[in-house]
Amino acid sequence: MPDPKPAVSLRIPTLTDGLSVSQLIERCPPLDPNSSYCNFLQCGHFADTSVAAELGGDLVGFISGYRIPSRPETLFIWQVAVDQRARGIGLASEMLRHILQRQPSGAVSHLETTIGEANEASWALFRRLARELDADLQQETWLDCDDHFQGQHESEVLVRIGPF
Ligand SMILES: CC(C)(COP(=O)(O)OP(=O)(O)OC[C@H]1O[C@@H](n2cnc3c(N)ncnc32)[C@H](O)[C@@H]1OP(=O)(O)O)[C@@H](O)C(=O)NCCC(=O)NCCS
Repeated sequence: MPDPKPAVSLRIPTLTDGLSVSQLIERCPPLDPNSSYCNFLQCGHFADTSVAAELGGDLVGFISGYRIPSRPETLFIWQVAVDQRARGIGLASEMLRHILQRQPSGAVSHLETTIGEANEASWALFRRLARELDADLQQETWLDCDDHFQGQHESEVLVRIGPF
């Protein structure tokens, strides 16, 4: 018999999640670790556009995001992290929907994110979201491996989904 789907609960992050977020990001390559201070800011100032996922009292998922200050109708998704033990059950998709559903009605019409060229799971995640929203997905190189990273990091492709 297949394992039952684990009982993961989703909620708005709070400041006390900051350190757990740092530790989760470290367990989720290829994500770039940030300072723990940055993760505290995400859990505090950006809580309304972020989400935390818990399983048995542990943080097993986190998405950080913000509305772009000069274009607040666009939700920018910064990082998506799901712990190994909670992968493959649709949690990342569920967390994205959670953030979108919490935005004020009519306030957000587009979503942007950047994806490493070779990150297949991330491409699948955002293509699936575009399909679910029945929205266009456009992409262009944003941070180039050579021009911006001096060859130290793969190119980051800007993905724009919408209008929805
Ligand atoms: C990417 C990540 C967030 C996906 O989390 P998840 O909860 O397992 O994803 P979901 O179950 O919601 O699946 C979403 C889609 O991605 C696909 N997917 C998930 N893992 C995949 C993998 N390793 N390779 C290819 N596709 C994958 C799923 O099949 C699904 O697509 P589908 O509906 O077309 O079948 C998770 O693997 C992770 O944290 N990876 C490390 C960090 C990272 O790369 N983050 C993304 C960059 S922002």
